[in-house]
Amino acid sequence: MEIVIQPTPAESTAAAAQLVARVIRRNPAAVLGLATGSTPVQLYRELIRMNLDWSRITTFNLDEYIGLPADHPQSYHTFMRENLFRHVNIRPENAHIPDGNAPDIAGFCGEYERRISAAGGIDLQILGIGSDGHIGFNEPTSSLASRTRIKTLTRETIRDNARFFGSEAAVPRHVLTMGIGTILEAREVFLLAFGEAKADAIAAAVEGPVASTNPASAVQFHPAAKFFLDEAAASKLSRADYYRWVYDNKPDWQR
Ligand code: F6R
Repeated sequence: MEIVIQPTPAESTAAAAQLVARVIRRNPAAVLGLATGSTPVQLYRELIRMNLDWSRITTFNLDEYIGLPADHPQSYHTFMRENLFRHVNIRPENAHIPDGNAPDIAGFCGEYERRISAAGGIDLQILGIGSDGHIGFNEPTSSLASRTRIKTLTRETIRDNARFFGSEAAVPRHVLTMGIGTILEAREVFLLAFGEAKADAIAAAVEGPVASTNPASAVQFHPAAKFFLDEAAASKLSRADYYRWVYDNKPDWQR
């Protein structure tokens, strides 16, 4: 794992954006796994600004609320359209988001997995992290081998996401999410986290034991994972000095 610590969210996002852009430039038909929430908004802005060619890119989003109309202001369909898709030349048929209104949810989940496989698997997965350590919407005690399925949000996540919905009562209880097993099959994983509210979750993910009670710790099993943090999110890492040292001493061929 590589832990990139930058002073601010903007600098950390810029570092991540450069590497995402490199993936797209090197492989114009890359398959990207995408996240929503507040964390990647600036990343998408940077990618839009770079004017990349998305015409052959395929994307798969991590998750979506169940029962929220696709055109609801807080649906992840709306989020992706507003924050990325309508600003780039991606083909609508190449942009996949779980369908939280599928009549047969279980059947849809299997189909989503099949679509990811048929696209050749995910080259690069972007992740955020919940304050309870979730990735995608894999809440604590999710199986580390889980696949795309329905999950019930924790009260902590409902509280965290109430800021988007105006009240806790308005946050849907159920979601569709790629599983931890699905996420770990991506060839590369970038996890972004900013702010002090993420510091405990990041310390547990990077330095804690791997456990289903802390889903993000499963990323320790991934052979090519990078964490992009600001100082606040990194503030509870006991080996932060070592991670900075590694970053500052990268061999030229690795930069
Ligand atoms: C959303 C997702 C979630 C978020 C997490 C953090 O697609 O996968 O795991 O990344 O809830 O959300 P923010 O970025 O709003 O703090």
